[in-house]
Amino acid sequence: MAQDLLHQDEIKEAVRRAYSAIPTGGGEAVVRKLYSDQELDGLPPGAIAWALGVGNPVRHAGLKLGEAVLDLGSGGGIDTILAAWTVGPSGRAIGVDVLEEMGERARTHAEEAGVSGWTEFLRGEMEAIPLPDETVDVVISNGVINLSARKSRALAEVHRVLKPGGRLCAADLVVDEDLPPEVLTSDSAWAG
Ligand SMILES: C[S@@+](CC[C@H](N)C(=O)[O-])C[C@H]1O[C@@H](n2cnc3c(N)ncnc32)[C@H](O)[C@@H]1O
Repeated sequence: MAQDLLHQDEIKEAVRRAYSAIPTGGGEAVVRKLYSDQELDGLPPGAIAWALGVGNPVRHAGLKLGEAVLDLGSGGGIDTILAAWTVGPSGRAIGVDVLEEMGERARTHAEEAGVSGWTEFLRGEMEAIPLPDETVDVVISNGVINLSARKSRALAEVHRVLKPGGRLCAADLVVDEDLPPEVLTSDSAWAG
């Protein structure tokens, strides 16, 4: 297992360092693949510039007006904003990201998108989500769970913060074969 080759703390630090160092996100090249023109309409340019996802979890999450949604690893906030628009002001959208600078960007973008009244961004780790038990109806996540060296722990945390009957809708990367040691010990492979 990868954990045998690199310590969990080293992986966490490598991932944090990598996302701290990037100058911007995927921008148009990413969003044109993942989101429709209608979904992109009205999104702040900064939220588009910082998009770093691999899918479109909001499209598949079946969000309803008034629901409380957590976006795990919210980055620049693109999916948190889309979720906030969908659940409306009677709902709640919460982004959690390990990097404070991501939260600051996302707060600016949420303000520009007009959803800041029912949207908040917290600094925290997916392996220790800074929310009480049974807080949200839905957890969404886009390209984040693969970054954890403790995926079972992250999923246990998702279960803990979901209300009974709650849902998880994650877009992510999976591997279905063993990876060679040079990949398992590569900081950039873990972060990417
Ligand atoms: C690939 S980006 C995806 C960002 C966003 N979901 C999107 O679709 O644009 C991964 C994000 O996860 C955050 N992250 C990395 N490790 C994390 C952890 N252990 N807990 C919470 N967030 C984490 C990074 O800071 C980064 O913002």
